[in-house]
Amino acid sequence: MTHRKILVTSALPYANGEIHLGHLLEYIQTDIWVRFQKMMGNECHFVCADDAHGTPIMLKANELGIAPEELIKGVSERHQADFKEFSIGFSQYHSTHSEENKEISASIYNKLNDSGFIKTRTISQAFDPEKKMFLPDRFIKGDCPKCGAVEQYGDNCEVCGATYSPTELKNAKSAVSGATPITKDSEHYFFDLPQFEAQLKKWTNAGHLQDEVSNKLAEWFEQGLQQWDISRDAPYFGFQIPNVEGKYFYVWLDAPIGYMASFKKLCTEQGVNFDEYFNKDSETELYHFIGKDIVYFHSLFWPAMLMGADYRTPTAIFAHGFLTVNGQKMSKSRGTFIQARTYLESLNPECLRYYYAYKLNNKIDDIDLNLEDFKQRVNSDLVGKVVNIASRSAGFIVKKFNKTLSAYAIEGDLYNEFVAKGDGIAKLYEARQYNQAMREIMKLADKANQYIDEHKPWQMVKEEGKEAQVHDVTSLAINLFRVLMTYLKPVLPLMAEQVEAFLNIDVLTWNDLQHPLTKHKINKFKPLMSRIEDEQIATVIKSSKQTIVAEVETKEEEDNMIQIDDFTKIDLRIAKIVKANTVEGADKLLQLTLDIGEEKTRNVFAGIKAHYTPEDLEGRLTVMVVNLAPRKMKFGISEGMVLAAGNGKSLHILSPDSGAQAGMKIS
Ligand code: 2FM
Ligand code: ZN
Repeated sequence: MTHRKILVTSALPYANGEIHLGHLLEYIQTDIWVRFQKMMGNECHFVCADDAHGTPIMLKANELGIAPEELIKGVSERHQADFKEFSIGFSQYHSTHSEENKEISASIYNKLNDSGFIKTRTISQAFDPEKKMFLPDRFIKGDCPKCGAVEQYGDNCEVCGATYSPTELKNAKSAVSGATPITKDSEHYFFDLPQFEAQLKKWTNAGHLQDEVSNKLAEWFEQGLQQWDISRDAPYFGFQIPNVEGKYFYVWLDAPIGYMASFKKLCTEQGVNFDEYFNKDSETELYHFIGKDIVYFHSLFWPAMLMGADYRTPTAIFAHGFLTVNGQKMSKSRGTFIQARTYLESLNPECLRYYYAYKLNNKIDDIDLNLEDFKQRVNSDLVGKVVNIASRSAGFIVKKFNKTLSAYAIEGDLYNEFVAKGDGIAKLYEARQYNQAMREIMKLADKANQYIDEHKPWQMVKEEGKEAQVHDVTSLAINLFRVLMTYLKPVLPLMAEQVEAFLNIDVLTWNDLQHPLTKHKINKFKPLMSRIEDEQIATVIKSSKQTIVAEVETKEEEDNMIQIDDFTKIDLRIAKIVKANTVEGADKLLQLTLDIGEEKTRNVFAGIKAHYTPEDLEGRLTVMVVNLAPRKMKFGISEGMVLAAGNGKSLHILSPDSGAQAGMKIS
């Protein structure tokens, strides 16, 4: 096969949440494919990045009282740590909030603009008058116009499933501030997708998409392509549109460009030729692995943007279905919304890689992670079948034959039969039919075990004159194991590495299988994988529920917190008590006249009579809230509040340190 040059991407995860098992379905699917391509000797680059822009990320950072840059930095570190543990072998992991992405986004936009593919028009949208920002549909809540369910999002009702526009919501409120949204006009920038209709129709029917996806696209073409709104007004966390003050690229404009930007960084760092992969006449291959929910962006907007800016278009878009757990949508209350971290605390990452491979195909149907089936499948296939071949044979070689495989390891056609399956298995990997590849491999594992069962080396070893046969049988078994582990290497890279050490070889490669290992010294066998126990799964479920409870509690703690802007609303000043009087008819109050500088005085009624006599107070400095709305009391108007500390029994008004003067502001 000729040496291919391939660039592969997985969808960019948003930088405001943790990686969970749903995300991992795609990263594992992609990683297996990339590892397979590399094993075939192809040059294959795998790039990804955090998707760092947009309103939700900006608001989350605000909520945490940190800059968005700080938020995305922490998230990126955690994402990358999770990916590493699942052996997702990115060649480059970048961020859409990067110099490379800023540059390429601006340049693509400018090219599109120069060619007349960008249009502007004024639109009306919901606006939060308090936060002074336009509200995406997700940030408007209200009562469903169809069924009346309360607290529904601006675009659809989770109770009755109705879809509508946010203006139809009853009692609409901004989810950011609680204010009632108003409608406001603003000029928006649009990518003129309809101009690409003919080209896109051709492209989408030219074998770049799965059949189910092409069918979906036919429906979209029928409905008619619309211009795509690519601008958002400030405040927004993203890139400013070149030469347009206060307007930013919508996150989905610079997200796919993030693929290019991440690759650009790789090219700079590793001396790879960027143009060779993105020029219009490129002969390299470009593949995007994505979830079925983002097909529209990748099979319409993205190729059109590339066409309009004179770049190559993707070789293919590989869409997959959603992940369900135990047959249902992942659920926080059921403990099946499992984060990568939580999984890793109890379970081996390679078990998940294998189970996903066992389930994945090249279709867009949803994939179910049934946890009971997961346990049984891994225990039966990996521990019971594959690892078992080595663990029941290695001991003989090590103890009886000086760790050395026999000279004649090929008995009958078994070894060749295993090797001959390689092409078919490779084709299944190439076609992303991992489920079938795993079944083929497990059929072979069954055969290898049968072979051992039939020859019973543990019995032969007790018989006179059977030594050479024991040596050949167990040596062949080890060789069959080597073939299986080569086939499984894209799925189980860590186990493959351990097997390379055990077999005392450099690397397991498809090509080397032509030659069995004979008269070859191996190492002592160490257990490669242990069985999954029920308790491990129970712990994951329990911890997933706990993570959620912890999140709710933090949220509650946060609800009791005030933000710095709340605090700075309180105007605290040093005040001099110029006069203190008792109040006729009030047994708890003293009437204070307070000097707050600039020759202003305030009248305050304070409940401190039980603790101070008026003479003690006159001439003293204290601290008061000067912008408290005046309160009408029985004895007159109180124009502020004096600060005091107390435990219910004693009470002590606050005094500033020496040197403070009436009117000084406290901050
Ligand atoms: O849907 C998502 O999670 C997006 N963050 C995917 C972006 S993929 C790409 F186009 F950048
Ligand atoms: Zn409803």
